[in-house]
Amino acid sequence: MVNQKVLYDVMRHQEWVPPHSDEWYSQLGGKYNYPWKSEFEEPTAEMVLSQKIDSYVNENFRILDVGCGHGEFTYQWSSKVKEVVGIDVIEEFIYTANINKPSDSLRFITVNANEKVPFPDDYFDLVYSKKGPWISVYSEANRITKRGVLVIGLYHGGTDGGLRDLFPGLYHPMPVNPYDLEYISRKFEFDKSELTDFNIEVIEEVEYLSTPEDVLIKKCFGQNEALKAVAWKECLKDIEEIFYKNATSKGLKVINYYHLITARTKLG
Ligand SMILES: C[S@@+](CC[C@H](N)C(=O)[O-])C[C@H]1O[C@@H](n2cnc3c(N)ncnc32)[C@H](O)[C@@H]1O
Repeated sequence: MVNQKVLYDVMRHQEWVPPHSDEWYSQLGGKYNYPWKSEFEEPTAEMVLSQKIDSYVNENFRILDVGCGHGEFTYQWSSKVKEVVGIDVIEEFIYTANINKPSDSLRFITVNANEKVPFPDDYFDLVYSKKGPWISVYSEANRITKRGVLVIGLYHGGTDGGLRDLFPGLYHPMPVNPYDLEYISRKFEFDKSELTDFNIEVIEEVEYLSTPEDVLIKKCFGQNEALKAVAWKECLKDIEEIFYKNATSKGLKVINYYHLITARTKLG
């Protein structure tokens, strides 16, 4: 069912901080964990990425996670490969990743992937990023990897999936068709990249938001308490009405679009 009522637009509030800006990350306080409650249909986008990486690695591999955050996803490779290195530009994330790491085969270092990185030539056998900075901006990918190795990136393709139809105002129309792969190639600047053999796969991840409040918690992830107070006051009642008209027994269905990009470093 499509809702016509236009909700309060929290993004116009003066305290709104653009997601993934420096201020937004500092408001997260060193933890990048989604705070809303939901159920996923499997496989999730993260599982698809794990399976992809898993199908390539072996115990002699050295792998690099670019934009690893606090490392929970990175940890899973410690028993499967020789060495795992996670890099992130946010020191607090790296600190958390290092204290909780399950094995010494994992190293976490504060590094800006867009600058010169502290790794020897021909070091890594696979490089990936889960929602981190895109690898083609990472100009040293060819230098620090062996020839022709796999580079994998998982990126949000816009979390429309009905939210914009159901909650106009609170969510805006999706600016991009996630299936417009030419646009996606331009966005990620494949033509300027030093990588080769690009492939893009669109993943539709199905998520059921558990309660009306979870719609707002998702929308206001990383925002400050003052903005959240306004969002709850202005939107919750409308959201409850729309939510209960449209939710299934599992919750409100949302489709999260992701792009799974693979490429190779150059052979020559
Ligand atoms: C959306 S979070 C994803 C974190 C983690 N990979 C995960 O999926 O939970 C993006 C991460 O990329 C990091 N990042 C962004 N630009 C970066 C750069 N130039 N160099 C290193 N890390 C970067 C951010 O600090 C942040 O931790």
